[in-house]
Amino acid sequence: MTQLNLPTMFPIHSRHVAVIGAGAAGLVAAREIRREGHKVVVLEKNDQIGGTWIYTDRVESDPLGLDPKRPVIHSSIYGSLRTNLPRELMGFKDYPFVSRNDGSGDPRRFPGHTEVLKYLKEFAREFGIEEMVRFETEVVNVGLMDNNKWKVRSKKINNKDSFDDIYDAVVVCNGHYSQPRIAEIPGIDSWPGKQIHSHNYRTPEHYRDQVIVLIGSSASAVDICRDIAGVAREVHVASRSVADGTYEKQPGYDNMWLHSMIEIALKDGTVVFRNGNMVLADVILHCTGYKYHFPFLDTSGYVTVDDNRVGPLYKHVFPPGLAPWLSFVGLPWKVIPFPMCELQSKWIAGALSGRILLPSQEEMMEDTKAFYSTLEASGIPKRYTHNLSDYQFDYDNWLAGQCGCEGVEEWRILMYLAASSSRRTRPETYRDEWEDDHLILQAQEDFNKYPPMKISSNS
Ligand SMILES: Cc1cc2nc3c(=O)[nH]c(=O)nc-3n(C[C@H](O)[C@H](O)[C@H](O)COP(=O)(O)OP(=O)(O)OC[C@H]3O[C@@H](n4cnc5c(N)ncnc54)[C@H](O)[C@@H]3O)c2cc1C
Ligand SMILES: *[C@@H]1O[C@H](CO)[C@@H](O)[C@H](O)[C@H]1NC(C)=O
Repeated sequence: MTQLNLPTMFPIHSRHVAVIGAGAAGLVAAREIRREGHKVVVLEKNDQIGGTWIYTDRVESDPLGLDPKRPVIHSSIYGSLRTNLPRELMGFKDYPFVSRNDGSGDPRRFPGHTEVLKYLKEFAREFGIEEMVRFETEVVNVGLMDNNKWKVRSKKINNKDSFDDIYDAVVVCNGHYSQPRIAEIPGIDSWPGKQIHSHNYRTPEHYRDQVIVLIGSSASAVDICRDIAGVAREVHVASRSVADGTYEKQPGYDNMWLHSMIEIALKDGTVVFRNGNMVLADVILHCTGYKYHFPFLDTSGYVTVDDNRVGPLYKHVFPPGLAPWLSFVGLPWKVIPFPMCELQSKWIAGALSGRILLPSQEEMMEDTKAFYSTLEASGIPKRYTHNLSDYQFDYDNWLAGQCGCEGVEEWRILMYLAASSSRRTRPETYRDEWEDDHLILQAQEDFNKYPPMKISSNS
């Protein structure tokens, strides 16, 4: 519990730090970095905090998100979205995401998206984070100056006024669910139907009585195909992660099928699957994920995004040659994001003040290269570099070790395993039926350790 001792050991070096983005990552980064004694400015292009969790019914002009000049809508949240993790798991370590017993909000264990936004806003209010945020301020350029400080150019959203400010350090927290990745489909250029990426999916009405081919098997694919099956004539899910001959009617639905990947799309509107089936489809909906995208970042080529690997990055956070003055929070996926961002932020905060020592630049680079070699030797493509599914808790515990704080709670690990397995085996019911009440109790005992902030009305 190092944090409780922090105020007494005031850091030797107080830095001027820019945090880009006021989503979950930026908020917790700002909190941790300020409480280490640094001066923090958060630059946020939206007019409120919350990032991805700010639902909007607006969509982009290009439904596939390919036009680089299109005005970008940040959020990818759809109307019916409920969390795919139980709330006990999602919350920051010392600010639990628990339901209120006063009738306000959404008390469900897997709440709707509005409840998550509300939680982030309460977190920001509780710790006075909003006062650090410059809203409607888009970062358009981040570059290193001769004196090794960063010049951050930002632009006001409304009047286009732009500002250059100088910082000792920049922490990138701009999210990575806004820049669509599209499936490559032979013949697609002459296929006459409509294509859309899930980034621009909000509600099912547009798909009434239509025949939909939905590509993907991630959490949003699993949700969206069910959302649409309620109104569409037919939903055909094409998945890259099933065997080539796969063709299965989805249990519980008389209008939804699972297929292996698309073989080809034809100019008469037919979509042919690798299992030999074909359908005349109205829409192809790509639920095929997103790309890391840092249009503002100019490191003279030091940090690149290559096949969705952001690198070189030591432990997914620091470019070795620019550490600790440039860092990234929240890049890993297949993780529990909020508590991971919290640990990454503590590490960055301590490294900036010199309280936590990083290895030398050479050592960090060697470690990073060794990590990439291991991936390569295991046949894991570059684009999975930040997929932490197998080892997220080892990663979290490693970070905790660097920061001298407690690692991941036992109940969190067990609850994650239970939730992942029930999501896989019963996607219709896992949000409303569970068997891990004993873990909820353990979590609540743990939460009781923290001061009764505004956690629940009766505490
Ligand atoms: C459909 C979907 C469902 C999800 N479900 C869950 C779930 O159930 N549970 C869970 O824990 N996680 C879930 N996630 C993961 C989610 O991304 C994280 O919970 C979290 O929101 C990530 O926060 P972030 O701060 O990294 O990014 P974001 O929330 O995306 O925030 C980034 C912020 O940066 C700002 N920004 C970007 N570029 C600039 C710029 N140039 N200048 C200024 N500001 C900028 C944006 O406006 C935004 O406010 C889901 C994600 C998606 C897309
Ligand atoms: C992420 O990595 C795990 C473990 O290596 C793997 O099983 C899984 O398929 C990967 N996920 C994706 C979407 O690639």
